[in-house]
Amino acid sequence: MTEQSNGSLRSQAWFGGTSRDVFIHRSWMRNQGLPDDVFDGRPIIGICNTYSELTPCNAHFRGLADKVKQGVLQAGGVAFEFPVMSLGESNLRPTAMLFRNLVSMDVEESIRGNPIDGVVLLTGCDKTTPSLLMGAASCDLPSIVVSGGPMLNGRFKGQTIGSGTSVWQFSEAVRAGQMTMCEFSEAEACMSRSAGHCMTMGTASTMASMVEALGVALPHNAAIPAVDSRRGVLAQMAGRRIVEMVREDLRLSKILTREAFENAIRVNGAVGGSTNGVIHLLAIAGRVGVNVSLDDWDKLGRDVPTIVDLMPSGRFLMEDFYYAGGLPVVMRRLAEAGLLHSSIKTVSGSTVWENVRNAECYNSEVIRPLSKPLVRSGGVAVLRGNLAPDGAVLKPSAASPHLLKHTGKAIVFENIEHYHERINDPDLGADEDSILVLKNCGPRGYPGMAEVGNMGLPPALLKRGITDMIRLSDARMSGTAYGTVILHCAPEAAVGGPLALVHDGDIIEIDVEKRILHLRVEEEELERRRRAWVPPELPSGGYQRLYCERVMQANLGADFDFLIGTRGHAVPRPSH
Ligand code: FES
Repeated sequence: MTEQSNGSLRSQAWFGGTSRDVFIHRSWMRNQGLPDDVFDGRPIIGICNTYSELTPCNAHFRGLADKVKQGVLQAGGVAFEFPVMSLGESNLRPTAMLFRNLVSMDVEESIRGNPIDGVVLLTGCDKTTPSLLMGAASCDLPSIVVSGGPMLNGRFKGQTIGSGTSVWQFSEAVRAGQMTMCEFSEAEACMSRSAGHCMTMGTASTMASMVEALGVALPHNAAIPAVDSRRGVLAQMAGRRIVEMVREDLRLSKILTREAFENAIRVNGAVGGSTNGVIHLLAIAGRVGVNVSLDDWDKLGRDVPTIVDLMPSGRFLMEDFYYAGGLPVVMRRLAEAGLLHSSIKTVSGSTVWENVRNAECYNSEVIRPLSKPLVRSGGVAVLRGNLAPDGAVLKPSAASPHLLKHTGKAIVFENIEHYHERINDPDLGADEDSILVLKNCGPRGYPGMAEVGNMGLPPALLKRGITDMIRLSDARMSGTAYGTVILHCAPEAAVGGPLALVHDGDIIEIDVEKRILHLRVEEEELERRRRAWVPPELPSGGYQRLYCERVMQANLGADFDFLIGTRGHAVPRPSH
């Protein structure tokens, strides 16, 4: 059990005994109508809720929390819900990623400072999953993730449309004159027609899959639609299970092992997961002191075929994925091929193999056999060279095969505003072989590393029917986006990385097979440019100042340097 030296649970440091402080802790809690026996030493479970009406993907979480509470009560525990800052990807500016680390601190301190023995993390929209798991990992109490589930499939004019992915398609169609503004507006309501998060294999679905693959969520966590009654069952089962986990002292550090991260990296390749998953898993691993590097992503994920045919890489959506059998089918296939560590323990109390061995596939178009993949080598390619000494990433399953080996002239944008000013200029001088280069959108440069890496193409090329060209930046891109987009270039331009030195007309060479990203400019010339480079000014104060001073580069997970590691869950000093 997660217990104190006297054998009682940590919550008893607040509620056990008859002292003046215990009176204070118990009396004020009893204003919620609690009977005496709530404080008799049974497990106290925190439900960390990211509910917010400004985070539409998580706006249904009050009901989900109630289901968790029922499960906790059924198992003999008591549940208390607490809020943390909620990060809504679609609304938050400048980018939700700017606040991921801030929320992780909110979560860590909320758990440690309160009478909590175990915690259920309610997550949904992109950043809510990594931020909660990072914070909980630094506390290392028994913890279980319950994702809110994806929205139902979008439907527009008889066609299936997917969150994000179809927005990018439609906006390019408008720019190319193939779609009217009236149709564009009509599509809004057709895309988001139920509670839940993005139903493509974007970052939210990727992270919901990652927590299931890591073993910190129950089987089927990733795909059950938000409005399917079975999502409520999953939440209830998680409530029951967290009480048992407290009794078993099954803490996060016992689940989040090196083997678990290796499993997740492979599953990411199999589902064609978002490049954002790379940054988040690196950050989570850092919190539990597991050594996972960018090279592990390339090495472990390289030969994993993408077998899930979901947008943005493929055709289907999360609802279809669940009806086809969901993530357990994918994990069973990987395990049978020897690509998973099958004997490691998960929060279900069973091993990976015990969780998935009976999983059945009901639609082999949605979840293909390993022998007939959507993309033979899925995963994430990590490119290196004089342009990205610490690495840059590309998702081959979302890229155009003919651009994976390419040499072209750079068209450079100093920041995203410069891109917007220039991209419609008929004298831009871009052709389909050009490489669009965007600077100053990395962790420190934006700040917060916005999802602007999938820059729209110049209208003149769109009108000629060109739908993809190479784009290169230190930014991220939405997991719902696609294209031959090289991201997370490290070190970023804003700290003087080589990306800062690229000029219009420079020749850039890319060879994904050989993992090369090379700027064909003589070192002497680069040195001259380096000496002339002026670092951008930092924000004058506030949280953004702290962020810029302490954020690490993308290849290290973009966490704050002072947050790495587990600080444990020892009971803090009394407050009175
Ligand atoms: Fe919330 Fe996509 S905007 S998951």
